[in-house]
Amino acid sequence: MQKLEQIYEGKAKKVYSTEDPNLVIVDYKDDATAFNGLKKGTIVGKGVINNQMTNRLMAKMEKAGIPTHFVEELSERETLVKRVEIVPLEVIIRNISAGSFAKHYGVEEGIVFDAPTIEFSYKNDDLGDPLINEYHALALKLASKEEIEQIKKYAFAVNDVLKAFWSECGVTIVDFKLEFGRTSDGTIVLADEISPDTCRLWDSKTHEKLDKDRFRRDMGGVEDAYSEIMRRLLRHDA
Ligand code: TMP
Ligand code: ASP
Repeated sequence: MQKLEQIYEGKAKKVYSTEDPNLVIVDYKDDATAFNGLKKGTIVGKGVINNQMTNRLMAKMEKAGIPTHFVEELSERETLVKRVEIVPLEVIIRNISAGSFAKHYGVEEGIVFDAPTIEFSYKNDDLGDPLINEYHALALKLASKEEIEQIKKYAFAVNDVLKAFWSECGVTIVDFKLEFGRTSDGTIVLADEISPDTCRLWDSKTHEKLDKDRFRRDMGGVEDAYSEIMRRLLRHDA
């Protein structure tokens, strides 16, 4: 399958049309941004890692009965996926306090929750992705009630798969962001990526950060953290 024309460029990926109207090619970049694009940089090799990690994790989701947009990895940075209409919701699951949760509610990072939380942001860069609840999502017609129910079920199921797999790798999944899409027949599928850009991943023993927080917080060792997390995935996903 060949790239035809670029139809979209996001902060971390480009999307191209193909000769099949139901399929597009995603091309992962090394560009990194944070704080709604205010901070910009490059994480060398990130595109390759995020592409390959996402695809392997998407395959695990399919195996667990969670439908995804994944079709076929084409190259180090390129993947063929189903064309979807992205539901403009960022779906965030948290197992441990960190990031904006710790900030909003005035708690330290690292508190392990008895049960995971879910929250939604309205995916809208101009508004800075504001936090919303399900009623807001319905009022804004971002998704139907049935779609939101389906998305919640899938999101918690993704958490179960990620928790189990990363734990085998000696990694704790603290929180992550998912995006869902509608295929041409209206089916809800998991889309976008599952990578160190979109997950907080801590070494289970040392709690060392192995994700994009190293970039967001100017901690250094960003490329090394991405390589290390990929190495761990490959060691346990033979
Ligand atoms: P937060 O604590 O900053 O709200 O982030 C929660 C999770 O969502 C964290 O794993 C990072 C991820 N995330 C994204 O993937 N994209 C974003 O734009 C933001 C703000 C967070
Ligand atoms: N990628 C997001 C941005 O640039 C934020 C983040 O991942 O922290 O806004």
